[in-house]
Amino acid sequence: MSTMRTTESVEVLSNIALFPGHYRITLGWDPLTVKPGQFVMLRISPTFDPLLRRPFGIYNIKEGGVEILYRVVGKGTSLMSQLKRGDRVDVLGPLGNGFELTEDKDYLMVAGGMGIVPFYMVAKELLRMGKTPRLFFGVRKEEELILADDLKGLGAEVEFTVQERDGKVVTELLESKDIAGKHVLACGPEGMLEKVASICEAKGVESFVSLETSMACGMGVCMGCSVETKEGYRLACVDGPVFNVRELKWKS
Ligand SMILES: Cc1cc2nc3c(=O)[nH]c(=O)nc-3n(C[C@H](O)[C@H](O)[C@H](O)COP(=O)(O)OP(=O)(O)OC[C@H]3O[C@@H](n4cnc5c(N)ncnc54)[C@H](O)[C@@H]3O)c2cc1C
Ligand code: FES
Repeated sequence: MSTMRTTESVEVLSNIALFPGHYRITLGWDPLTVKPGQFVMLRISPTFDPLLRRPFGIYNIKEGGVEILYRVVGKGTSLMSQLKRGDRVDVLGPLGNGFELTEDKDYLMVAGGMGIVPFYMVAKELLRMGKTPRLFFGVRKEEELILADDLKGLGAEVEFTVQERDGKVVTELLESKDIAGKHVLACGPEGMLEKVASICEAKGVESFVSLETSMACGMGVCMGCSVETKEGYRLACVDGPVFNVRELKWKS
């Protein structure tokens, strides 16, 4: 599926708190086609502070709008949480390669916290292919489980770990299961992704990870999102953010 990248000023249709520090913003924007796992760069403020756009995964496309789920971590996302219906933001996208999904493969999604973002669209695509989406979802606090409600609403099979409740993380769930023949798709904190990669390698299973490398331009210009691979440096914004883990060199 080819996608066409545009930059435009779009209207905020809604910006709703899901639970403390986490929001769902809907933008009046029609990107024509989006591949699951692609992202946008948003300029949140019309002023020069913050100067740089911020990257966010595309959570969902629906009639008349695009949904983004985000967590407040700093200045940009804090300003974003104050946006109201009718405000405008500047959006660049869709960007990146996204997940390559084919009918002949059996997929398993693994997400940590906000790493669930790309999987709503992955799940919709798997359903379109006649497959039942399956997700292992790890969260720190119980309140974050709400993030999986939309996937469950689609009919996805979701298994959880809640670190503060049962002391377990999602990679332990992955380790304990028979995943032979699966293609694992993962998104979450880098430490989790590295562990997913090593579990999948040990089990002889193919895996693909979506990296949340810091990005400044999102278009392959600033070189700020370099990722070390076995064949040299690549750019997370144009060559990724999804990589086959066999390509990657992890930092630790
Ligand atoms: C391809 C991609 C997709 C993303 N999708 C989403 C998404 O769907 N929802 C979402 O909430 N966030 C997502 N992020 C992360 C998001 O871009 C950052 O949280 C955001 O840019 C922070 O901006 P800020 O101005 O609020 O924080 P800043 O002021 O830039 O940073 C504040 C603090 O947060 C830390 N921080 C910044 N970025 C990250 C990060 N990626 N991971 C961990 N810590 C970080 C900084 O080191 C700093 O300590 C994505 C990132 C990438 C690269
Ligand atoms: S963010 Fe600038 S090159 Fe990737």
